[in-house]
Amino acid sequence: MTTMDNLSVDHLTGIRDLTRQDIETIFTTADSFKAVINRPIKKVPSLRDITIANLFFENSTRTRLSFELAEKRLSADVVNFSAASSSVKKGETLVDTVNNILSMKVDMVVMRHPNPGAAKFLSERIPAKVINAGDGTHEHPTQALLDAYSIREKLGTVEGKKVVIVGDILHSRVALSNIYALQKLGAEVMVCGPTTLIPKYIHELGVKVEHNLRKALEWCDVANMLRIQLERQDIQFFPSLREYSMLFGLNKEILDSLSKEIVVMHPGPINRGVEITSDVADSKQSIILQQVENGVAVRMAVIYLLAAKVERG
Ligand code: CP
Repeated sequence: MTTMDNLSVDHLTGIRDLTRQDIETIFTTADSFKAVINRPIKKVPSLRDITIANLFFENSTRTRLSFELAEKRLSADVVNFSAASSSVKKGETLVDTVNNILSMKVDMVVMRHPNPGAAKFLSERIPAKVINAGDGTHEHPTQALLDAYSIREKLGTVEGKKVVIVGDILHSRVALSNIYALQKLGAEVMVCGPTTLIPKYIHELGVKVEHNLRKALEWCDVANMLRIQLERQDIQFFPSLREYSMLFGLNKEILDSLSKEIVVMHPGPINRGVEITSDVADSKQSIILQQVENGVAVRMAVIYLLAAKVERG
């Protein structure tokens, strides 16, 4: 490993803390791991001496499986923890729970938690490396890395590309992490959605705002369609899902009527027929499954680069 391969951070708690060089280092490392996972033997022995705990205090399909596969393909030992079946339910604090897990000689913690800032909080209190797998409405850094990596793979570069993020920006950790990652890599970013789902501080992030989906789609090279997060909405932010879908849902009719061919993304899970119709999600313009595939290589890269900072012996 050279100094160019050395991340400027000891933990991955958010994209905000990364430099452009960090992101590029993660991408070039992910390129190597993508080649590995497309070989008949999809494993390397790099992390045989590392133990990783996956702590999920919120539901997940893609992120959890993707991290576990990434860890196993690096030959790390892996333990999984789910809040639903743990002693957290008996009143144990987050730090106590994690310190108990660490006393079993764990080197790295991957954590999804409903509270914004939970990963940073933990990274300041435990000796293990911490990777944020989504902290409430705050950040989802590995999702943004795999999204930007997928744009780079599809379009050759992220620099200079126009990316619109459509939907529930207010509750979305994917939106915030994507804004940071795309801007650091030189893309132009727009957000599009109902006024009620665009945070008032959004202009401070240097993004464009558009409330007309067709105009947003005509502007962009890439549209990243977000899921409506009904589970985080304590009040009603729009009259009905049907109305949301009519105004902000991406369907084949709009896609085919645009003056150019755009790339369609979605972080998953998809509400088919709400933010995106099935024929768009499954179309040749969609790179949704490539995003999922790239997630494993990108997470392998993040884990590998942070494991280089673990004190061995
Ligand atoms: N994109 C994403 O975070 O999906 P999961 O909630 O299934 O992990």
